[in-house]
Amino acid sequence: MKSIGVGLLGLGTVGTGVVKIIKNHQDKLMHQIGCPIEVKKILVKNVNKEREVEIDPSILTTNINDVIEHPEVDVVIEVMGGVEETKKHLLAALRNKKHVVTANKDLVAVYGSEIHACASENRCDFYYEASVAGGIPILRGLVDGLASDKITKLMGIVNGTTNFILTKMSKNGSPYEEVLAEAQSLGFAEADPTSDVEGLDAARKMAILSTLGFSMNIDLKDVSVKGISQITEEDLNYSKRLGYTMKLIGIAKQDGEKVEVSVQPTLLPDEHPLSAVNDEYNAVYVYGEAVGETMFYGPGAGGLPTATAIVSDLVVVMKNMRLGVNGRTIVSPQYEKSLKENSE
Ligand code: HSE
Repeated sequence: MKSIGVGLLGLGTVGTGVVKIIKNHQDKLMHQIGCPIEVKKILVKNVNKEREVEIDPSILTTNINDVIEHPEVDVVIEVMGGVEETKKHLLAALRNKKHVVTANKDLVAVYGSEIHACASENRCDFYYEASVAGGIPILRGLVDGLASDKITKLMGIVNGTTNFILTKMSKNGSPYEEVLAEAQSLGFAEADPTSDVEGLDAARKMAILSTLGFSMNIDLKDVSVKGISQITEEDLNYSKRLGYTMKLIGIAKQDGEKVEVSVQPTLLPDEHPLSAVNDEYNAVYVYGEAVGETMFYGPGAGGLPTATAIVSDLVVVMKNMRLGVNGRTIVSPQYEKSLKENSE
């Protein structure tokens, strides 16, 4: 039986999670797609580094072309990060007729429509469920689960690092710098935590979420952003005494033809469901005209939770391959049509 070949770009926390899930859930995956998945090549920085998972050293490479041009790689999974160079490589992979799955919100928030256009031209798939809220299947929840409804507002805690910091500062009275260092050591924070604490990471995720939720291209530049670096323990104590919880909240709401998107520290009444979302957890509160209010909750970062989203995208790509309907991405048909019109 022919296997599906996967090429992995990056073998850090999330890449290792992907290898583990492919290995440990092989039976369930086989059952869904009808053939085995085989990791054919992995791009790493150092082939000699000791790894948490057992990997055949012959599949490790430091040359990206060994992955994106590999004749037996059907799907390229990108978990190495970066924007400009990474975009170039993913476009090359698509032109080589490789489907692409990525966790890279920085890339998707800025170049999502361009990559989608290239994928579509090459009849390849492009999926990125892991780019927002790690293990919570929120993109599919919005696009497929709520396909019949009209979304009116999205409210989300979409950055685990800042939620961890605010929770610990508020509960233990710990100082900001100490809790940030703890979040970094636990692996939630980005390599440069400025994008977490200044709200940029959340802004990118809100741009992706609102693009999908409202079926229109939301430019990252139009998201107004304020982070948490100026918040003090006194601010948190004071709000607690008044019955409020401080969270870094992303809000997107429709105002006539426009959608307004912002990220800022927000005081929520203690009874609000988002006030109970603590530590590194994420949640997205979705208001639909017909459904009313729904909340999607779960781990927003971490190797295995993020890897579940990636491997689930892989399953979708493989189902599309089996049905011969590639050239797909996770967007509503209405938005897909506008992307096609714009690229013509
Ligand atoms: N730095 C991100 C966060 C990781 O803290 O949420 C997951 O995107």
